[in-house]
Amino acid sequence: MSDTNQMPREEGIDHSLSLIREGYMYISNRRHSFNSDIFETRLLGKKAICMGGKEAAEVFYDTEKFKRKDAAPNRAIQTLFGKNGVQALDEQAHKHRKEMFMSIMSPDQLEKLTDITKKQWEAAVEKWGQMDKVILYKEAQEIMCRTACQWAGVPVQEDEVKKLTKDLAAMFESAAVVGPAHWLGRNARNHVEKWIGELIDRVRDGKVNLPEDTILHRFAWHRDLEGNFLNTETVAVEVINILRPIVAIAIYINFIALAVHHYPKEREKLKSGDEKYAQMFLQEVRRFYPFFPFVAALVKKDFTWNGYKFEEDTLTLLDLYGTNHDPEIWENHDMFSPDRFAKWEGSPFDFIPQGGGDYFMGHRCAGEWVTMEVMKVSLDYLANRMDYEIPDQDLSFSMFSMPSIPRSKVVLKNVKRRI
Ligand code: HEM
Repeated sequence: MSDTNQMPREEGIDHSLSLIREGYMYISNRRHSFNSDIFETRLLGKKAICMGGKEAAEVFYDTEKFKRKDAAPNRAIQTLFGKNGVQALDEQAHKHRKEMFMSIMSPDQLEKLTDITKKQWEAAVEKWGQMDKVILYKEAQEIMCRTACQWAGVPVQEDEVKKLTKDLAAMFESAAVVGPAHWLGRNARNHVEKWIGELIDRVRDGKVNLPEDTILHRFAWHRDLEGNFLNTETVAVEVINILRPIVAIAIYINFIALAVHHYPKEREKLKSGDEKYAQMFLQEVRRFYPFFPFVAALVKKDFTWNGYKFEEDTLTLLDLYGTNHDPEIWENHDMFSPDRFAKWEGSPFDFIPQGGGDYFMGHRCAGEWVTMEVMKVSLDYLANRMDYEIPDQDLSFSMFSMPSIPRSKVVLKNVKRRI
């Protein structure tokens, strides 16, 4: 008798189209219908495993069992990730590169980021007061682009800001789309990598002098495990790994505005200025609204887990959205309820909007604290520091397009800074 079980299997030649069609719900729908946290399917013409839930996240983040090299599809590398970035590294090379990222997440650097973010919000609200209508998604991207460049020490001219903002946004908006919008993302990446690459060359040639504590300076002079500087293209990819996701926080800023608007009782509670409550509100924004649907890895070597056989090199997807909405973990999982975080025990495997596990040993998002700091400032403005109207508009958001963004992009009118 065999000591392994057959995983529930989705029959058919290939289900990549269903994945695109069902988006954030693809894995959850099948976990539900198979009544199993794990199932086998076929994606991109090959056998693949999908799984979700706390136990699945624990095994997925075991670096003895999974690797990242060659796990991401080419379309994501050409737009979202870039080549040879930290996302595709494993073992010691990954740990060493990840330390470069984590070294900039110090309390001092985060305080500096908070100050910059506040100044950028202040300037934006001043400007919005003169505007007939404000499209929050676009404006928040620009706030974030200015913040990111200033924080990272990337000098950018005023007349370059709008184009750079558009290019950085195109990188994360284009990974899961087809046609011209996808090519926009590829061109944007090529353009920005070249621009930052030239800047890095000038830093290394001593033609641009930057303070030593800037991110650009540190990345430009980072040495790999063999003691060599990274090549220019790789440094550019890693600098973009800071700038691009900070611009992507504009998506969370839109969802914050939506939550403040849809849940007036929450807005009342936020007025008290209770920092702990604001923190729980923001955690719930990250749990409740869709952002990254899943993450991908390849099986490192054959192993058996819960009686199921995992074969080397099998593509495996971990359901991020579905784990954040897992009824086994979250009571009333489809309700927006910040209070649930008062009881949350802080497991690195059940609340995983930005990945799970360990920051250094695994691939958990390096920018989680950055994201929370920026969201805190943004929430304070949207809930307490400005008055505005949200006229009739389509505030719904798709569960199929990735990333999901409220359809109207959140239009604000009559914006006034509160005195
Ligand atoms: C906008 C909100 C953000 C979301 C939803 C998000 C989500 C994620 C996810 C899902 C991963 C992959 C985890 C995995 O592979 O297991 C990741 C990785 C990463 N994120 Fe974020 N992120 C965000 C913001 C940021 C920010 C602001 C930064 C930098 C300042 C950042 C830097 C990174 C880096 C460098 C990685 C790769 C880590 C590694 O491979 O070891 N992210 N993020």
